[in-house]
Amino acid sequence: MSDDYVRVFDTTLRDGEQSPGINLNAQEKLQIAYQLAALGVDVIEAGFPAASPGDAEAVRLIAQSVKGPAIAGLSRTRQEDIKTAFESVKHSDRPRIHVFIATSDIHMQYKLKMTKDQVLGEIRSAVTYARSLVPDVEFSAEDGSRSDPKFLAQAFRLAADCGATTLNLPDTVGYAIPEEFSGFFANVMKEVGTNGLVWSVHCHDDLGLAVANTLAAVKAGARQVECTINGIGERAGNASLEEIVMALKTRREHFGVDTHINTIHLYPTSRLVARLTGFVVPPNKAIVGDNAFSHEAGIHQHGVLCDKRTYEIMRPQDVGAPESKLVLGKHSGRHAFGERIKSLGYHLTEEELAKAFVLFKDLCDKKGIVSDGDIEALIVDEILGNAT
Ligand code: KIV
Ligand code: ZN
Repeated sequence: MSDDYVRVFDTTLRDGEQSPGINLNAQEKLQIAYQLAALGVDVIEAGFPAASPGDAEAVRLIAQSVKGPAIAGLSRTRQEDIKTAFESVKHSDRPRIHVFIATSDIHMQYKLKMTKDQVLGEIRSAVTYARSLVPDVEFSAEDGSRSDPKFLAQAFRLAADCGATTLNLPDTVGYAIPEEFSGFFANVMKEVGTNGLVWSVHCHDDLGLAVANTLAAVKAGARQVECTINGIGERAGNASLEEIVMALKTRREHFGVDTHINTIHLYPTSRLVARLTGFVVPPNKAIVGDNAFSHEAGIHQHGVLCDKRTYEIMRPQDVGAPESKLVLGKHSGRHAFGERIKSLGYHLTEEELAKAFVLFKDLCDKKGIVSDGDIEALIVDEILGNAT
């Protein structure tokens, strides 16, 4: 398999969970992490262990239970934060410590109240310490896109010399413009070099450009994209995983690289995250919205009836979206019910499935037709809610 591919670093459980109004418990985070592994992401950023004992515990649970992707914990440059991150991720077969500090003048002066030399000192000690604990260390220069490019390159070079294996350039406040950002990214990369390093990009959506900026960075040489399911995250959110993945796949000839994502799991993952976070997916959301593969206008319907490719650049089945839905009611069997649960992104044990099926039949007697939303509520409230 070629080494030139775009690694997907999913931060739904860290930056996504930082959305005001989202608070996932450890069981809910674990369900999402299992689904992210089925989706084939390369890295799951499971949380920020030093933020709270609950987050540290959730990261530990995921590191112990979820196999396949690397499991990352975010950390400030403080030694005790790095130690806490290590204690959580060390249970994974592939632990990663993700260390960050801001490099822009505005952040260094007003937030960190540190000089450039002090910031460089923090990078040296933090990355060296993290690397003494695990072989996989990522360094992020927070507010990188608003940093002086010379200082940014100096910070990245130092992080690489101290053992960082992935260098991440974030557009923390969603200020970048695609054309400008690809030039900025390419210049910093050239200054620092690529020797054995993976360059990464992390974009926020304050101007609605997070996906466009991410793709511009991929064009410039980024080989890791940091993103979240449904684009959830701080303020206006992060770059949306499903949009980046399908843009790279659908326009492969333009980008020349692709991801290793198993795209048929995109829709179930989106549903699961929407349900567990309570952040509803707008119907017109690209790739996973209810209307993403619906056609209303007569001319469009006619075109689609002749050949779907007239108005569809992707097939719904390629992202796991239903073309037409089976209605579930009291005549439905356990198999159909189990399949629907899987298509909604849940992983239940046999025992949980049996219990859910009994509750489902009770609901059918009361309601007649049971919707996907009813099934999701039943699992979250009655099955996962009672899990120990
Ligand atoms: O937006 C940002 O800069 C971050 C870093 C911690 C990577 O989330
Ligand atoms: Zn972020």
